[in-house]
Amino acid sequence: MRSIIVITGLLFAFTLASGQQIQVLEKKGMVSLRGMSVVDDQVAWVSGTHGAVAKTTDGGKTWKWFQVKGFEKNDFRDIEAFDEKTAVIMAVGEPAYILKTFNGGESWKLVYSDSTKGIFLDAMEFWDNGNGIVVGDPVDGPIYVARTDDYGTSWERYTSKKMSPAEKGEAMFASSGTNIRKLSNLEAVVVSGGMRSRLLIHEKWMELPIIQGSETSGANSLAIWNVPPRKLNMVVVGGDFKNDSSSTKNCIWSNDLGKRWNSPAVPPHGYRSCVEFITADRLVTCGTSGIDVSEDGGKNWRLISTESFHVCRKAKSGRSVFLAGANGRIAKLDWP
Ligand SMILES: *[C@@H]1O[C@H](CO)[C@@H](O)[C@H](O)[C@H]1NC(C)=O
Repeated sequence: MRSIIVITGLLFAFTLASGQQIQVLEKKGMVSLRGMSVVDDQVAWVSGTHGAVAKTTDGGKTWKWFQVKGFEKNDFRDIEAFDEKTAVIMAVGEPAYILKTFNGGESWKLVYSDSTKGIFLDAMEFWDNGNGIVVGDPVDGPIYVARTDDYGTSWERYTSKKMSPAEKGEAMFASSGTNIRKLSNLEAVVVSGGMRSRLLIHEKWMELPIIQGSETSGANSLAIWNVPPRKLNMVVVGGDFKNDSSSTKNCIWSNDLGKRWNSPAVPPHGYRSCVEFITADRLVTCGTSGIDVSEDGGKNWRLISTESFHVCRKAKSGRSVFLAGANGRIAKLDWP
């Protein structure tokens, strides 16, 4: 009996030593989580269906769940948290809503709403100085954009004659709140999907050599590493969520702002809804068919789990990486 215990202990030690591991921290019934914002190594927030928001202030050990009053039927696909007291959540449509809490999630103030027919918000992105942007599916031409300059307390619709229109059947996936990313001070980049999958940069669309041409295919998420002296690196992931084990044209990367796109030597192992830089070289990507990591800027990907997750985010200030997905599952990625 004792020898069995010793052997089991050894095997366990070997498994732990073999690399990145995920540790599931929380499960919450029917809630589908797609919004996540990790403030630091202690504070993280998630959001999802049934008006659900959850928060940890102890690095993921315990989670406090909230159901936003009056919004019990809404799907909060994205969240941006500034600290343990303040956060902004986005309900997709129709109508679309943005709400903000100033008291740690106990109550929420409606700060933006739009009941335009067909409105569907996809993702928000914020800069450190309180500027922020929310993007939604195209309504009669260009994509929908609204902006804030006060950490999401007030918002204004933004329209521009310069912004080139989307094409028929081209939209954005609200799968992880990461199809818009900041590129530099006050500039953001967006990826679309569906019948067309492209990248919007300087208000112009650029082709992407990623799978597209159906309602369920295209780019889902974009990650950008733009910290000199390293060369800027952009990684786009997606695929076809109806065929989530296929790796066909599901990931591309570019070192020159999209002039040339490259395919990884070993792509992620299936459809992926979110990609995130951890360092200049390390990335994590997740989707319904599993989690992959890269240690070379997105050129080679290794499957570390076949568990389904929708979103993976790193702490804005700190090292922690969390994942969240269906059935209210929240996990932490340990990267030794
Ligand atoms: C799923 O992907 C594979 C390639 O990995 C492809 O051969 C197949 O046609 C795809 N199926 C559908 C239904 O798109």
